[in-house]
Amino acid sequence: MQLSAPLTIAVPKGRILSELQPLLKRVGIVPEEAFFDEESRQLTFGCKDAPIKLIRVRSFDVPTFVAFGGAQVGMAGSDVLMEFDYNDLYQPLDLGIGRCRLSVAMLEKEAAMLDAAAHSHVRIATKYPHITSNYFAQKGMQAECIKLNGAMELAPSLGLAQRIVDLVSSGKTLAANGLVETDVIAQVSSRLIINRSAFKTRSTEMNALVAAFREAVHAA
Ligand code: PRP
Repeated sequence: MQLSAPLTIAVPKGRILSELQPLLKRVGIVPEEAFFDEESRQLTFGCKDAPIKLIRVRSFDVPTFVAFGGAQVGMAGSDVLMEFDYNDLYQPLDLGIGRCRLSVAMLEKEAAMLDAAAHSHVRIATKYPHITSNYFAQKGMQAECIKLNGAMELAPSLGLAQRIVDLVSSGKTLAANGLVETDVIAQVSSRLIINRSAFKTRSTEMNALVAAFREAVHAA
């Protein structure tokens, strides 16, 4: 890839790395080997034959790194983008990876007895307070969100909150904790994001990058 200046790309660590690997290969970005090793504590990774630096950060931090110019490009889940709603990000492409859904779930035994209309106020454990309050507000319900950063599947059985809002992929985590999905709030996938000012100042390169990713996604 022809670049006039170094480029930093922020990617979320975790499960998505294995899905990202073939996509990067098709685009011609070849990171050093440690990048795909989830055990590696390294945070910055060089690439072969291109002035590209990949940084591996928490999924919730990718948009922040890109919006504030720490990275010009990133790959972020649509769930995270919905939660933060940054104006300084351009989202040109659905990468078609990291597919899952953002759902409401509750204990199976309680879901069976639920009279949704009877509740105008609900308490919900989630990493997504913004999306959650908007979703329930649309249903005429007030959501009191208890912010957790993980393991929210524990919250209903421990009495923290009757419901949770979290990502569901295979559904195994819900089932293992006696929970069932009651609503799907949104389908989720990873998006290519670009810092708006980088998109303007390096428009030819950024357009070429988007085109290369688009082709790679279609070839998948
Ligand atoms: C996510 C999510 C659920 C789980 C759902 O967590 O928060 O806990 O995956 O996946 P499943 O439906 O296939 O069981 P993840 O493992 O990514 O870790 P996190 O809690 O650190 O986000």
